[in-house]
Amino acid sequence: ADSFSYSDNKGKGGELHQPASDKYPTMTTAQGCPVSDDQNSLKAGERDPTLMEDHVLREKLFHFDHERIPERVVHARGYGAHGYFETYESLSELTSADLFQRKGEKTPVFARFSTVAGNKGSADLARDVRGFAVKFYTKEGNWDLVGNNIPVFFIQDAMKFPDLIHAAKAEPDRGFPQAQTAHDNFWDFISLTPESMHMVMWTMSDRAIPRSLRFMQGFGVHTFKLVNADGKQHFVKFHWKPKGGMQSVVWNEALKLNGADPDFHRRDLWQAIERGDYPEWELGVQIFDQSFAERFNFDVFDPTKLIPEEQIPVKIIGRMVLDRVVDNFFAETEQVAFCTQNIVPGLDFTPDPLLQGRNFSYLDTQLKRLGGPNFTHIPVNAPKCPVRHFQQDGHMAMRNPKGRVNYEPNSWDGGEHNPRACPAHGFVSSSQAMGDSKLRYRSPTFADHYSQARQFYISQTAVEQEHMQNALIFELSKVENLPIRQRLVSHLLNIDKTLAEQVANGLGFRSMPDAAEAAMPPRQD
Ligand code: HEM
Repeated sequence: ADSFSYSDNKGKGGELHQPASDKYPTMTTAQGCPVSDDQNSLKAGERDPTLMEDHVLREKLFHFDHERIPERVVHARGYGAHGYFETYESLSELTSADLFQRKGEKTPVFARFSTVAGNKGSADLARDVRGFAVKFYTKEGNWDLVGNNIPVFFIQDAMKFPDLIHAAKAEPDRGFPQAQTAHDNFWDFISLTPESMHMVMWTMSDRAIPRSLRFMQGFGVHTFKLVNADGKQHFVKFHWKPKGGMQSVVWNEALKLNGADPDFHRRDLWQAIERGDYPEWELGVQIFDQSFAERFNFDVFDPTKLIPEEQIPVKIIGRMVLDRVVDNFFAETEQVAFCTQNIVPGLDFTPDPLLQGRNFSYLDTQLKRLGGPNFTHIPVNAPKCPVRHFQQDGHMAMRNPKGRVNYEPNSWDGGEHNPRACPAHGFVSSSQAMGDSKLRYRSPTFADHYSQARQFYISQTAVEQEHMQNALIFELSKVENLPIRQRLVSHLLNIDKTLAEQVANGLGFRSMPDAAEAAMPPRQD
């Protein structure tokens, strides 16, 4: 080291220099402009200040300055991997969900495991619940099973969730302890919240310090519903069972591991997949119906309760294999956005008040965390099936609809309503007993579209009526598509025959169209 001289590092011109090589593709700016030197800023002279015009420096610092996004408000520390889900047998009797129709069907998945309370940089072996979130990229859209490694939860109602999390995270005045349940605020809340007692037993058990993410169970926690093609519904609880069995560490080991390698869990998952020892879980379901629900000692919509397996055995229906690490931690593991609301036809929610609150919460937080409404355009969140909707614009819009049409209904290439739409998206349930009676249609009391339009028209003076006729003729004469003109006149026929005829005349119609079918008789009552 004594003999080191800066001159060793000097290029031909004597300047401090890191030589470029031809070994790698030329570096460019984000605009694609080749960069001659990305180690030295542009200066007016050797010892003069940096020039403002150095766009290479400006862009590099600008982008670096904006690298951070908000961490998840809960489950901030997590680790993800890609894989697939394989269906063991058709479940068409129980559900019309496309991924469960065919034996041997493989559905791509992305799974993320997490701790709940700790921040993004906290240690892996905290005593905590582990998130167990799986995104299934099915042929009929993304299904997110956003579960935990414990089958029940602390609270029964979403209203209490902010309190639970405030109490579990660092205390607001002192900013500690990070990622530990062992503090007054947490136990204060718990001691005042009797409904948390069941979950507390689980979090004080060895399950809360798993040996590896590969060796823990997962649970959907809530009661969900399976709906078959005939609309028949069953309640369901989801279970993930690790093929490698369950293993935990003891507290003493957890403390040492946290000190020696705070990344113990993520390193273990990465290394297992890299060496081809792919982690595997089987998916199981507990299926039950309304008559069981009525006989059961607890409310099946209460997320602090499980359904004992000796009463309803777990039926294994498939397996998940994680066989590919991410290409980029931030792009995939950080930006993945799971949401309980992401379900597919054949699955449905129950009125569980915790689930209902979650359905609302995830989109809301992700709008902020991922910087706008277009996070489904990020590859890890994008469905792998065709997507067709008229959502557009917003920050980072990359998949705006092409062409003229961005609304529904339209005459150009209208989106047909899918008769197999998701129950939660339009199924009319006949079964009040299953805890729902959801409708997505409009009451006939909203069906008269013409009476008041007629009243308004006939309330006008003759001159005013003429103005309206002329306005309609002028406006519609600018419409190039003739069927649209005709359709409008067919509505006018339901309002006032003379008005319709005047407008048709002004537009040069050779014959009158029929009156629009949407005409409904005014209510008689
Ligand atoms: C993550 C809210 C209950 C499992 C999150 C996030 C929020 C949230 C805001 C961050 C999402 C993001 O930034 O992408 C809630 C609310 C709950 C609730 C309001 C209750 C009302 C639960 C329950 C479970 C659960 C009961 C398990 C059954 C998860 C998991 C993640 C998560 C696994 C991490 C997802 C990932 O890996 O990105 N939750 N949560 N949450 N939540 Fe919940």
